[in-house]
Amino acid sequence: MLTITPSHRPFHTDVTVPGDKSISHRSIMFGALAEGDTRITGFLKSADCLSTMSCFRALGIDIEETEDEILVHGKGLHGLQAPSVTLDAGNSGTTTRLMAGILSAQTFPSTLTGDASIQKRPMGRVITPLTAMGADITSAAGNDCAPLKISGGKLHGIDWTSPVASAQVKSCILLAALCSGTEASVTEPSLSRDHTERMLNAFGVPVSTVLHPDGSATARIAADGVLRSPGAIDVPGDISSAAYFLAAALLVPGSEILVRNVGINPTRAGILTVLRRMGVEIIEENRDDSLEPKADLRVRYQRPEHPERDPHGDFVIGGDIIPALIDELPMIAVLCTQLPGRSIIRDAAELKVKESDRIAVMTENLKKMGADITATDDGFVIHGPTPLYGAEIDPHLDHRIAMSLAVAALGAEGDTVIRDHECVNISYPEFFDELFRLT
Ligand code: S3P
Repeated sequence: MLTITPSHRPFHTDVTVPGDKSISHRSIMFGALAEGDTRITGFLKSADCLSTMSCFRALGIDIEETEDEILVHGKGLHGLQAPSVTLDAGNSGTTTRLMAGILSAQTFPSTLTGDASIQKRPMGRVITPLTAMGADITSAAGNDCAPLKISGGKLHGIDWTSPVASAQVKSCILLAALCSGTEASVTEPSLSRDHTERMLNAFGVPVSTVLHPDGSATARIAADGVLRSPGAIDVPGDISSAAYFLAAALLVPGSEILVRNVGINPTRAGILTVLRRMGVEIIEENRDDSLEPKADLRVRYQRPEHPERDPHGDFVIGGDIIPALIDELPMIAVLCTQLPGRSIIRDAAELKVKESDRIAVMTENLKKMGADITATDDGFVIHGPTPLYGAEIDPHLDHRIAMSLAVAALGAEGDTVIRDHECVNISYPEFFDELFRLT
């Protein structure tokens, strides 16, 4: 339990957020499956990424850790060894779904599980396509959730159409195909984050992406690819973590923040588009267009009076941009409480199957803080601006809810108590130290 006192004075500071969670997971996975060693800098040492690391250690991969670097000794596509324990993905959906793809194509059996939240999250979305590829993978409880029992075997190719835009589903299938030496394609209704495709290309395995006129996208991996380590991977800062500090500067009058070294891959940077549509000026400095583009982001406090409105007068966030800001929607919902008029967040039903039901949990907690917010089947309707008041917050052990509402608390009247605040360790162990530096 932690008490947040509102910020009574503006802050002018800079912050360096930790490494990107999605890219950190993938750097361990690709490093392990590659020929050669991979030196990773900027790796996120949070609970989720440490779960991926411990799974690969259990699969016989030697991973060295120092203060600033991780060194993965890759064993190639066929180098993993049968684990002597049940693999534990902890709270991490990315670990569970990507590992399901890798493990389904091994020559040995394995069992993959995770914490209470993971054991409730839908795995049918990977079990079904993997089964169609010839995998033997079942949900031990028969409810399409983990624990997953996987026999292992050689899989065949597939052209899969996924009903949800999910980088985890897409990556699971691409990795299963990679480990089986077969071609495969995944079509999704909107383009989801493409870190897997970028990293496959960097490791020498051709992947193409085709964007269709209706907004859907197809990623295709070639057969018989071999992963060759490029030697080093530098993980940029996580835009999902940066979002909290950009928002903090917009909630505390007179503030200004510079968030350094933030990954701004267009398939992740939807929050920047939405902030600009709210009328917020974001200055990008020191842009670096490497494999994963990055920049320093500067935001000054401003009260958006004239967000871009649709013909009904609403500020609407929906459609193909949703996958590019799915993890930032809790923070965006808080910002919408301060926008004049009606804000509608739609096409985001995926929020219900994240670490918690983020539609229900954000609505419950923001209401306690005085917001005018209604949950819908696929998002929220929010009327603003409303003042926010301190309240007792239950994040339901969901790191992104805890961080979004801690930032809301900075701009509220009266103290806020965050229950189970340690859940931020999932993606950002130093979050509260950095947040308290602002107050
Ligand atoms: C992730 C993909 C997203 C995201 C999650 C990380 C990834 O999930 O919400 O935090 O690293 O691939 P989905 O792909 O299921 O939408």
